[in-house]
Amino acid sequence: MELPEHSPEDLYEQIVASLSEDDYAVVDDFLPREASIQLLQKLKELHSKGEFKKAGIGRSGGFQRNAEIRADEILWLEKQNLDDEISRFIAQIEALIEYCNQHCYTGIRDYEAHFAVYPAGAFYRRHLDQFKSNDHRKFTFIFYLNFDWIPEDGGALRMYIPGNEGETEVDIDPVGGRLVCFRSAKIPHEVLATHAPRYSITGWWLDQEKTLTFL
Ligand code: OGA
Ligand code: MN
Repeated sequence: MELPEHSPEDLYEQIVASLSEDDYAVVDDFLPREASIQLLQKLKELHSKGEFKKAGIGRSGGFQRNAEIRADEILWLEKQNLDDEISRFIAQIEALIEYCNQHCYTGIRDYEAHFAVYPAGAFYRRHLDQFKSNDHRKFTFIFYLNFDWIPEDGGALRMYIPGNEGETEVDIDPVGGRLVCFRSAKIPHEVLATHAPRYSITGWWLDQEKTLTFL
């Protein structure tokens, strides 16, 4: 029997190796293209039903909406009653977490994730993904769903990679099927202004179970 060109384990191994070496990883075709396109259709359907909200910054007492800092719209994923399109992606993320826990002792116990839409003109200024009030977000992942992306559309993810001789900027285009992961505490990043609507799923791997008090 012929093996597929990239088995999921190859992909997971590539992510683990990059994360260990560079604190970030970028891989393409995290899901089969057809599955990603269906996921995008689902996202658009939910968005057109008005289910997204303007994103904020901070949590509980510290929560605020500030369009000067970020201007995306989000919808949190529920882990129950997921549609097929979404559960396929979630299964792949859960398998990746499992793999990292087994091969890298990452100790991830849970995750949270939301859909995000950046309308044309939107951005998210430089920030770190950990809250002042807790540090349970260990790794950030972002899965992009923009299939006809061209560089003129803007909207790159800019990571600021710390190093001995200062920071290096790494720009990643948000092209469909691409997954980016990084250590939430280590890599400041921003979303440059997008000139076309920009679709993605952003999530975090947590070192403890997400509970209500945690929020
Ligand atoms: C975030 C974020 C980056 C991206 O949602 O915290 O930084 O490329 N997203 O969408
Ligand atoms: Mn972020």
